[in-house]
Amino acid sequence: MTRKKVSIIGAGNVGATVAQNVFAKGYADIVLVDIVEGLPQGKALDMLESGPIVGSDAQVIGTNGYDETKDSDIVVITSGVARKPGMSRDDLLYTNMKIVGDVTRKVVAASPNAIIIPVTNPLDAMAQYVLETSKFPRERVIAMAGELDTARFRTFIAQELKVSVDDVHAYVLGSHGDQMVPLVNASNVAGVPLTHLFSREKLAALVKRTQEGGGEIVSLLKTGSAYYAPGAAVAQMVAAIILDKHAILPCCVLLKGEYSIRDLFIGVPCKLGAKGLEQIIELTLTPEEFQMLRKSAEAVRDLVAVLHKAPVA
Ligand code: APR
Repeated sequence: MTRKKVSIIGAGNVGATVAQNVFAKGYADIVLVDIVEGLPQGKALDMLESGPIVGSDAQVIGTNGYDETKDSDIVVITSGVARKPGMSRDDLLYTNMKIVGDVTRKVVAASPNAIIIPVTNPLDAMAQYVLETSKFPRERVIAMAGELDTARFRTFIAQELKVSVDDVHAYVLGSHGDQMVPLVNASNVAGVPLTHLFSREKLAALVKRTQEGGGEIVSLLKTGSAYYAPGAAVAQMVAAIILDKHAILPCCVLLKGEYSIRDLFIGVPCKLGAKGLEQIIELTLTPEEFQMLRKSAEAVRDLVAVLHKAPVA
């Protein structure tokens, strides 16, 4: 049996962490691509040399082109720039849009049947742009974010209660930004609802910390954004697809009327398997949560409108 192929475009912090997580499992060969010469080659060789220690026979190569990515089963897009001082949100959108558009065209030419996992921020708008550029069906463009936001929420709850993260079941839906929607009513610890475990004030604080989770890391790191948890989240999506697990994970996908939202990428619970998106799970939301989700969708719609007015193609 030949191993599946996972290509990762952008061998920066997030891309390399995805690669490392997937490599350690050993179920896929990896191609790391970056525009910086030597960077993907160096990281790939270093990772390959960890194989005897971590017990992986997977192959990892680094390259500055797309030939080696040919016929990838999954392509993860992490190429882009982080927001710099003086850069507006729209400037960042246009810069990353140009990078992601160019990358997507090359990815599609080399791997027309791949499943693409966009990770570059602003996530929801970039995912929409990848779908429009690739002309892939929505089943094959599944962006990462909900899994990360949910992992942060679960971490904070587990830390607070001093219980295993395994026992904390939670969902965070909506856009990947301050307007994300941690679902307090659908979340529990070993079956006990969060509302029985925390005061209203404490729950509000946990929700707020989750919504601002990315910013908390940025303000600590100062020179970049999070990558360990994002990398692990992408690797979990890769595993669900490659191992055809039919796993239900919160991901950012194009909605076509689900949750009464149409033609927008929004984080919702998704069943992932070998074909990509297999099903969107529609949870019963409280009127308040539903309202928050609609607000979250409006923020994404505004950003997509800016994207469609872009001076670049
Ligand atoms: N093709 C390939 N790689 C590119 C391109 C391109 N056109 N343009 C930029 N890159 C590469 C950079 O050279 C860099 O190595 O993308 C990489 C980005 O890595 P980092 O700067 O370390 O950023 P990272 O922390 O990995 O975040 C990447 O993921 O979570 C999001 O907000 C984050 O949008 C950001 C992305």
